[in-house]
Parts: sequence; C-alpha cells; structure tokens
Amino acid sequence: MQALPKLDPQSEGFARDPHHTYTQLRNLPDPYYYEDVDSWMLTKAADVEAVALNKTMLRNVDHLLSAAERKDAQRKLNWHDMPHHERFVQTNLLESEGDTHARLRKLVFREFTAAMIARQRDTIQAFVDHLLDGLGDRDAFDFVEDFAAHVPGHIIGRVIGVPDEDCPRLRVWSEQVVRFFDVGRNDDDKQLAERATKEFYEYLLTLVAARRAAPQEDLMTRMVGHQDAGLMSEDELIATTMLILMAGHGSTIDVLGSGMHALLRFPDQHQRLRDDPKLINLAVQEMFRFESPLPYFHRFATEDTEVAGRMFKAGTRFGLLYGAANRDPARFENPDQFDVSRSPNRHIAFGGGTHFCLGNHLARLDMDVIFTTLNQRFASIELAHEPAYKPGLSVRGPIALNIAVKRH
Ligand code: HEM
Repeated sequence: MQALPKLDPQSEGFARDPHHTYTQLRNLPDPYYYEDVDSWMLTKAADVEAVALNKTMLRNVDHLLSAAERKDAQRKLNWHDMPHHERFVQTNLLESEGDTHARLRKLVFREFTAAMIARQRDTIQAFVDHLLDGLGDRDAFDFVEDFAAHVPGHIIGRVIGVPDEDCPRLRVWSEQVVRFFDVGRNDDDKQLAERATKEFYEYLLTLVAARRAAPQEDLMTRMVGHQDAGLMSEDELIATTMLILMAGHGSTIDVLGSGMHALLRFPDQHQRLRDDPKLINLAVQEMFRFESPLPYFHRFATEDTEVAGRMFKAGTRFGLLYGAANRDPARFENPDQFDVSRSPNRHIAFGGGTHFCLGNHLARLDMDVIFTTLNQRFASIELAHEPAYKPGLSVRGPIALNIAVKRH
C-alpha cells in the first residue's frame, strides 16, 4: 500500500512549496484525515466549493452545545480566560451563523458593494502615490515591509472612519489579535492577543462616542446609527468593526507580496501586463488564485452528509483548502502556470456561500491601483533574491520581498 503523504504545515518544505503537498493530497482516492485538527482535508475545487456552498455546513456549531459544553470546548482551545478576545474576536460576523449572521451581514454588505468601494479609488491612488514618493530615489527596498504593509490599515481605516494618524496602530493590534490563531502560538501570544483586543476595543469605543457626538460621512457613523435603531448591539458593532479592520489586513499584505513575486517569477507575464494594462483585472484575479493568501478555513457538518463521494457523520469537521483547490487541474488548465490573462478564472480564494468575503472588491481595487501604478512608475522591477514564505496552513505570503527598481 502506498504511504500516505505527510501534511506538516510548520515545516520549511511546506512553506517553500505547499503545492507539492497539495497535489499529493489531491491525488489520494479519499480526503486526507489530518489528526492535528481532527479534520478531513478537501483539496479538489469541486469538493471545496460544494461544502462552502452547502447551507447545512457551518463554521460554528456552538449553538448546538450547552453552556457547559461550550465552556469545556473553549477551555480545550485555551480561550476561557481571555474575556475581551472571547467577547469580540471569537464571536463576530465570521463566527456567527443563521439569523444573527444574516442580520449583521445585511447591515455591512451595502458598505462593501463594488459601487461603494469604487468611491475609494482616489483615496487609494493618493495614498499609494504618497507611499511611493516617500521611497525617494531608493533603488532597492523590501516590497513587503517598506510598501505593502502600510496599505491595508490605512485604506480600511479610511472606509471605517479611523483618523489617518491612528492607522499604524491598527496594524499592530490586528497582528497581535490574530497571532493567537497561529498553530505555534504560546502563552505570550495569548496575553498579547488579549491585551491588544482590550486596547482595540477601548479605542473603538472612543471612536463610537466621537461619531455619536459629531456624525461624519463614514461607516462608523452609519454603524452607530444601526445600533441606535436597535439593529445591532454595541458588542456586535465593536466585533464587526474589529473583524473588518482585521480580516483584510494581513491577507492584503500577503497577496501584494506573493502577487509581486509571481510577476517577477514569470517575467513574460509581467511584460504582457505592461504591454496591455487593461489586463489588470484578470491579472489580479490570477494573483489570488495562484497564491491564495488565506488558504485554509473549516466547516462542520450539522447532519450526515456525502462529501467527495463518501458519507460523513454530523459533527465531522472539514478543512477547506482554498489554496489547493485553486491549483486543481480539473478546474484550471496548467494550474501551476501564472497567466495574467486567465479567463475564465473561477478561483475560490474569497470562499463561497454565506461567508463569501465581504472585502473582495476592496482587496481587488487595492491591487488594481497598486500594480498599475508600480508599472507606470518603474521601468523595471527585479527580484534581489528568492523570498522565504511564512510557515503555516492558514496564511500564505512572503516574509520579505527584496526588489531592485529602475525609474522611468
Ligand atoms: C486580501 C485578500 C482577502 C482574502 C483572500 C479574503 C478571503 C476571505 C475568505 C476566504 C473568507 C471566507 C471565510 C470562510 O470561507 O469561512 C472571507 C470572509 C470575510 N472577509 Fe475577506 N479576504 C480578503 C480581504 C478582505 C478585506 C479587505 C476585508 C475587509 C474589508 C475582508 C473582510 C471579510 C469579512 C468581514 C469576512 C466574513 C464574512 C462573513 O462571515 O459573512 N476580507 N475573506
């Protein structure tokens, strides 16, 4: 019998090339059972999509548990003494289901439609120009730390109504709050996550008070209006705002880094984009497919269900490997080829079904403006050396990306 491939997300080899492992898993006759997270890992696009779209598959089955069972489960996850993290991070739009999810999602959905987000184009352009001007005449820099890392906090902050000078703090809080979810987390991470959530909460409370006193044309003001109209509680307001500020933070930085890396690894594709800038929308979609920045989510079956041709019991947990599905040769021709004109491109980097990414238009607009501007400003961009990627199953992006540029 053929030995099962080993899934070791913290290994150097996996960080270097997760797609080799994904291919091995995809070639197995059945989904791979990953004991560490008690999950059946799905890697085929059709299976991942079927589960994401299945309304009986939930991210969270807490409502099926008694209070005691829930506490016990939280204790096992080492969460029980993290009051702020538990209150605002472990229970938000993404973690809610059913009526609560539908109510909260409806309130924020209208803020993130393509038309609403298109209004941010000038803000994004101005900020990107400002960042690039700030690089002066430097001809070598770390694209991740010196550029990409500054973008999402500022832009999402603007949408919400966070004053520009406070945006750098959002990045620090976001990173500290989400670090708790890393597989390799320790007690220090836990303390940091709790402290950061508390500070973040207190900061947002001040912003809520400021908007209530003096309404502005921003999302926070409209959220305060929803709370005052009895459509959401204050805790829901804070948790949703925090989620919006965090969900697109690291992921945008990561896909900017991996997208740039893809252009530099495939210079002929970069040249095609330079020659035909109208390809930008397709090129950006391809960046999300090629290295999906959030490659792994999960769902629980709430009833006995057939998945990938096998029956599974209610309560089974599935790993949705969006990053693997996006390289499935059954859906994508030459999946390991980065192709800036790939069309159709039915990637699943933003998930599917009820939790489909709220911020997808914003993430794509950031990328559109950034790569268009970079190609206009720089006559050439080259890789100084091959980057190392972050370890882990849940995130994908280069730690640093050192590039050398020549200006026009
Ligand atoms: C940059 C790349 C991004 C990627 C790859 C991404 C990916 C995803 C995915 C896969 C999900 C679904 C999770 C699941 O299936 O369980 C999701 C949900 C979500 N995303 Fe994004 N996202 C990105 C950017 C953003 C941005 C910029 C924002 C904020 C404006 C955002 C806000 C959200 C929210 C609020 C949810 C939860 C939606 C719900 O539960 O109804 N995302 N995202």
